[in-house]
Amino acid sequence: MYRYIGNKTKLLEQITSLASNYLSPGGTVADLMAGTGSVAAEFRRLGYRVIASDIMTYSKWHLYVQLLMNRTPSFEGLSDLSVEPECHYVQVLNYLNELEPVEGYFFREFSPSGLPANGCPSRKYFTSDNAAKIDAIRLKINEWRDEGRICQMEEALLRHTLIMAVNEVANISGTYGYFLANFTASAKNAIHLAPVSINTGRIDNVVLQGRAEDLAAGVTADLCYLDPPYIKRQYAANYHILETVARGDEPVAAGKSGLRPWRDQYSDLCTKTKSKDSFAKIIEDIHCPVCLISYSEDGLFPVEDLCDVFSAYGKIEVKEIAYKRFRSNCSSLANEIKEFIIVLEKW
Ligand SMILES: C[S@@+](CC[C@H](N)C(=O)[O-])C[C@H]1O[C@@H](n2cnc3c(N)ncnc32)[C@H](O)[C@@H]1O
Repeated sequence: MYRYIGNKTKLLEQITSLASNYLSPGGTVADLMAGTGSVAAEFRRLGYRVIASDIMTYSKWHLYVQLLMNRTPSFEGLSDLSVEPECHYVQVLNYLNELEPVEGYFFREFSPSGLPANGCPSRKYFTSDNAAKIDAIRLKINEWRDEGRICQMEEALLRHTLIMAVNEVANISGTYGYFLANFTASAKNAIHLAPVSINTGRIDNVVLQGRAEDLAAGVTADLCYLDPPYIKRQYAANYHILETVARGDEPVAAGKSGLRPWRDQYSDLCTKTKSKDSFAKIIEDIHCPVCLISYSEDGLFPVEDLCDVFSAYGKIEVKEIAYKRFRSNCSSLANEIKEFIIVLEKW
């Protein structure tokens, strides 16, 4: 399971059954803060057409795989890796799993044997062996992309698969904000790319990347689901290493934690001063009669304050769900929180 702050895997039933009251079969749903893609994929599974987006690049790859594919791509540009005429996804993963490790960027910046370029003490996000394997795999995917040997769907599937594998061996307590002092048992396992399953379903979906505030005006849907950040800490900072895996780049790794530059993915929704204006812009601009907005008791402001913003645009109703919260391993927060879904029927 993907440990991602705000991941709604456990609330899919509540979200989609509420949404179905406002949708005709096969209608279009927009999910403009899609994260792991769990909600978007569930709407697709139920037969709806989905328009999904997020600020983050890793989310884009998750969405490509979950919304735009209904079979594994052919990898025909890599047929020389295979004894069969066609090279399959599993064969490509076998090849990547067996690459010789490379002591590259991940090894230098994120492993205990590395010497970070900024002179900070070595970091322990991954064992040295795993970091060198990640380097080898990243370099090979970049090489195939740059030589035009894989198409964008194939790149999406490989980067998505690598992100899932990286999550399994990361030495963190929930987010990539910082690494743990000692390697956990799972972090000591050797990284392994395992094939992900590709769901069948409609592929006339749309995947975008960007701020919901900027994209909303171009989106027309029957219903829009919004699942904003609830906390001040930016996703771009909490998941900086996944972003680097997704982009395949080698950014400056700053400070003790090795944070990549993230201002280009700064979200106004994580700030108390700007988020209400952002919500208002999204609701105003999107061409959509109904919006469902998830929010949490843990959020930056009381849900009533958000309701004040939305009530300027239509009739609102608030549903309350008791929910087991995402917790990083060392969190002392209570286990249960209230989740809200605000239903806005626009005038
Ligand atoms: C609560 S999470 C969504 C979780 C998602 N529903 C899931 O199940 O994985 C919030 C998401 O909003 C994204 N985000 C933050 N600010 C945004 C913005 N202004 N526009 C679009 N996405 C944004 C974050 O990158 C994060 O993935």
